[in-house]
Amino acid sequence: MESTAWPGVFREGRELFTINADPGHRVHGETLRTLDAVEYRSWDPFRSKLAALLVRGATSDLLGPVRSALYLGGAHGTTVSHLSDLWPEAAVFVVEKSPTTFAPLLALARRRENLLPILADAQLPERYRADVGTVELLYQDVAQRNQAAIFVENAQSCLAPGGRGILMLKVRSVTQRRPAAAIVRETRVALERAGLAVRSEVALAPFAREHVALVVTA
Ligand SMILES: C[S@@+](CC[C@H](N)C(=O)[O-])C[C@H]1O[C@@H](n2cnc3c(N)ncnc32)[C@H](O)[C@@H]1O
Repeated sequence: MESTAWPGVFREGRELFTINADPGHRVHGETLRTLDAVEYRSWDPFRSKLAALLVRGATSDLLGPVRSALYLGGAHGTTVSHLSDLWPEAAVFVVEKSPTTFAPLLALARRRENLLPILADAQLPERYRADVGTVELLYQDVAQRNQAAIFVENAQSCLAPGGRGILMLKVRSVTQRRPAAAIVRETRVALERAGLAVRSEVALAPFAREHVALVVTA
């Protein structure tokens, strides 16, 4: 098991791993490997767009430690669980709007104290802004037509000046009618108009088709 450029992320061959903050327990059917009394969990880029972003070439500062993060679209907690591994001291607020999906997320949060799940619609940050406060990292993975607007509103509500943002843009959820490049360009413009500096744009294929990661700074 080797260290990587991203703090807390390890590699064995082509596979990525994080150190399991909940030893003995799997979250998404991942492989567990114990070496020198440390348990590692595999992090599959086909199941987590954040792992895909790492594999496709994220800079080493992308996952530097934060004290607080807001994650929109937590689903069952696959990616969230790896952030929980990476940042044991952080408060990771996780917004999910589907009550069905929220149940396993809640169960995960009971085992991992740094996860704080919120059952809410990310289109309405005013519902949770007071609980979340100001965060150092905003992450969004919701397949909605108005993804850029949701990201901007949440950044304006909760992201600290100088904070990092990661928008996992699902291009085809915005519209089927215009070319993907135009949608990405319009999204970049919307973010920049809101004062977010776009640092990088990374296509996530073949891991997540028609997804582009936009990494920003507030
Ligand atoms: C692609 S899945 C997220 C996968 C997850 N980020 C991961 O990597 O493990 C998208 C999730 O966003 C949720 N979602 C969609 N629209 C939302 C909204 N407006 N507010 C909150 N959650 C939303 C869906 O219910 C779904 O669970």
